[in-house]
Amino acid sequence: MSILIKGGRIITAADDYAGDIYVEGERISLIGESLDLQAERVIDAAGKYVLPGCVDPHTHLDMPFGGTTTIDDVESGQTAAAFGGTTCHVDFIIQPHGSTFADAIDDWRSKANGKQVIDMGYHMAVTDLREGGTLEELASLPDQGITSYKLFMAYKGALMVDDETLFKTMEVAAETGALVMVHAENGDAIDVLVKKALAEGHTEPHWHALTRPPETEGEATNRAIQLARVAGAPLYVVHVSCKESVEPIQIAREKGWDVWGETCTQYFFVDYTFLERPNFEGAKYVYTPPPRAKENQDVLWNAVRTDTLSAISTDHCAFLWDGQKTMGRDDFSKIPNGGPGLENRLQMIHEFGARAGRISLNRMVELLATNPAKLFGLYPRKGTIAVGSDADIVVFDPEKKVTISAKTQHSKTDYNLYEGTEVTGTPEVVLLRGQILVEGDELVAEPGVGQFVRRAKFGEELRPAAIAAA
Ligand code: URP
Ligand code: ZN
Ligand code: ZN
Repeated sequence: MSILIKGGRIITAADDYAGDIYVEGERISLIGESLDLQAERVIDAAGKYVLPGCVDPHTHLDMPFGGTTTIDDVESGQTAAAFGGTTCHVDFIIQPHGSTFADAIDDWRSKANGKQVIDMGYHMAVTDLREGGTLEELASLPDQGITSYKLFMAYKGALMVDDETLFKTMEVAAETGALVMVHAENGDAIDVLVKKALAEGHTEPHWHALTRPPETEGEATNRAIQLARVAGAPLYVVHVSCKESVEPIQIAREKGWDVWGETCTQYFFVDYTFLERPNFEGAKYVYTPPPRAKENQDVLWNAVRTDTLSAISTDHCAFLWDGQKTMGRDDFSKIPNGGPGLENRLQMIHEFGARAGRISLNRMVELLATNPAKLFGLYPRKGTIAVGSDADIVVFDPEKKVTISAKTQHSKTDYNLYEGTEVTGTPEVVLLRGQILVEGDELVAEPGVGQFVRRAKFGEELRPAAIAAA
């Protein structure tokens, strides 16, 4: 199949120009001015932005968590992603306690088989180096294309690891070329605060935030940075939500250390007061770290603008409000932690970031596509528009007005964090490796088109032969 995308405004992290893109098979084969070529399909992109497919480095599809399982499986989650202009994501394999990493990988691959709508890679969330996976097995993962290790410093009694496991994993990463990712919160202190709040009879959703103060995030962020320095491992701090964790990342980056941070769409828009909404509405916003005091939103915009934070993910971890979040109606600590967002990241950051003048269009592309691709071993196959790159392309209509709503979304959950928000600008056509995936309101391709991507090791580039069918 050949496709000619004509007359669009091509925007990458570095460039912004008018041009045509010629796609042959799965790749971009030519970019030029007024290309005079025959193609099986011509897409008129006049007046449109032509962006690289976005890359979401942080999602949780079909994940057992909090006594239930996230409502979006690979098919529904990736369909939501595709409509939102995301053509590749990196999901978390969670190593069950006592399990080898190989078994965990098999389990996660079987959840994806035949359902993939977009391309995906995996991070390995290490939970147990005593009874389950060994350091040797952990060290073998980067050669299988799983080139990042995730550690939860919170969720005591579930996913949390102690500092020994954290540090040993960092040492392995330093040797194998993996990137270490941390969920940075002090899980021990939070556990004490949660028990105390419940003992005092505090059960409502906003106690989720009151028992996870920003200092617990700042402390853990700093601890992870210092330990990564000792181990010599590169570090990526996920879902940074507040000044207390932005500051240690900023200091580390100013010193030139191998430290990066991401924030997520929701932290720019949802603040602590959402948790106080009556009639258990607040439970919709129970995710971790929690929505913070509003003044943190400016801190985060400034951090993404100045490259203190280098990526914006969704941390899509969707649960039904009615039926899953309600498990915690009488006890905030039983509300499954997580929120949806895969479909709306580009729309929201375009509207309130680029259109509002907080960041440039180039920086938007860098935060949503190029930097995630570079940090997670997908670049230059993904994350840019260049000759030889995968033809993962979003033709984006910057004038189309959309009202975001759960009624029209593709996630299976029953609410949307941005319900009723009006945005101007939305994807019109989305291509995945040269196939039309989404056109207007229609999913054109069948589930199964997406592939598992063997990612390159940290700091290395991903070249064409590295992609393998799942
Ligand atoms: O509340 C959240 N963020 N749920 C997903 C798991 C995690 O901590 O990323
Ligand atoms: Zn987390
Ligand atoms: Zn997460």
